[in-house]
Amino acid sequence: MRQGAQDYRLAGQSTSPAVSFPSFLPSLWAANTKFMRVLGIETSCDETGIAIYDSEQGLLGDALYSQVEMHARYGGVIPELASRDHIRKTLPMIQQLMDEKGITADSIDGIAYTAGPGLVGALLVGASLGRALALAWNIPAIGVHHMEGHLLAPMLEAEPPQFPFVALLVSGGHTQLVAVKGIGEYRLLGESLDDAAGEAFDKVGKMLGLAYPGGPRVAALATKGTPGRFEFPRPMTNRPGLDFSFSGLKTYVRNTLSELADEHGQVSEQDKADVARAFEDAVVQTLVIKCRRALKESGLRSLIIAGGVSANQRLRAGLQEMVEAQRSRLYYAQPRFCTDNGAMIAYAGCQRLLAGQQEGLSIQAHPRWPLESLPALR
Ligand code: KG4
Ligand code: ZN
Repeated sequence: MRQGAQDYRLAGQSTSPAVSFPSFLPSLWAANTKFMRVLGIETSCDETGIAIYDSEQGLLGDALYSQVEMHARYGGVIPELASRDHIRKTLPMIQQLMDEKGITADSIDGIAYTAGPGLVGALLVGASLGRALALAWNIPAIGVHHMEGHLLAPMLEAEPPQFPFVALLVSGGHTQLVAVKGIGEYRLLGESLDDAAGEAFDKVGKMLGLAYPGGPRVAALATKGTPGRFEFPRPMTNRPGLDFSFSGLKTYVRNTLSELADEHGQVSEQDKADVARAFEDAVVQTLVIKCRRALKESGLRSLIIAGGVSANQRLRAGLQEMVEAQRSRLYYAQPRFCTDNGAMIAYAGCQRLLAGQQEGLSIQAHPRWPLESLPALR
């Protein structure tokens, strides 16, 4: 071993042989730097997202590649195909973004990659690449929580929310209400006991014969639906608490569609649109009722919504109406930063690195990772 070298082991691999790295690498990183430029890498599911965020100049550039077409023929994400495609895309996308923006490696101060939750193979691609680049460039890297990324995405907007606030996280994998005091200060108020809101949209999309992901397609079909023709339940709204359940709604949709089907099992386009509308109204109203309750119970005056379903126009409109009546305010990210993207990861990682949070040389990948377990920034 070279003089001054230290031993590092891959996380969770205590029996593996020690990997030796020179000791100057982690100590290069001085805590509480005033500004930073961070490369963000998102590969937790079926989108490769790359971005460069500068704490002084804001977002310098971002790129997104969606694997949606590849998975569409299977009706959902195939994890192994997702990992392989991230391997093909991630590094060339980083190179292309840096070239296009004229950003050189020596101007990048840190790397943020999504460390979880997500598909483990997909996570490992971004994590090993991010860690390796940080090692090559002698800069720190940090594993970011995907839902913290979503939660902080509205901070990229011109008028960002101020802490504290209530956050409604609605994605394909999560539906959570969280009281947020600051970065890393999260108190879970309620969550879905079964399907996430986005998952319910996707499954209903499938029943309606729409391509994956169903969410935006169900929303588009619902605009042609007749409001009020069907009344679906608003699950768990007439009992106290802030938890959700969306799987019963799916059954409701399935039963309604089979009642509407003709002798050949066909449902007319108008009937499908009316069902889509009833389903969307039920999800939106359920979320509105719970958000109103969360604001009241927490005494907070700001609500942020984040994650793929926060791009839903009817949800935004319903919540806007509710917050106005509550003399509160609603915040959300522009649609492209509601769904998975690299900018939210670069931003979240930048905040943590700026505060002096640092990690050793381990590669972080946590398929399951509770949001409340994250350390507070102060
Ligand atoms: O946050 P996201 O991109 O990925 C996860 O972290 O899961 O969320 C994807 C989810 C999908 O279920 C998708 O159908 C849903 O967000 N989604 C929508 C809309 N846009 C995306 N759901 C309803 N309305 C939309 N406009
Ligand atoms: Zn997401």
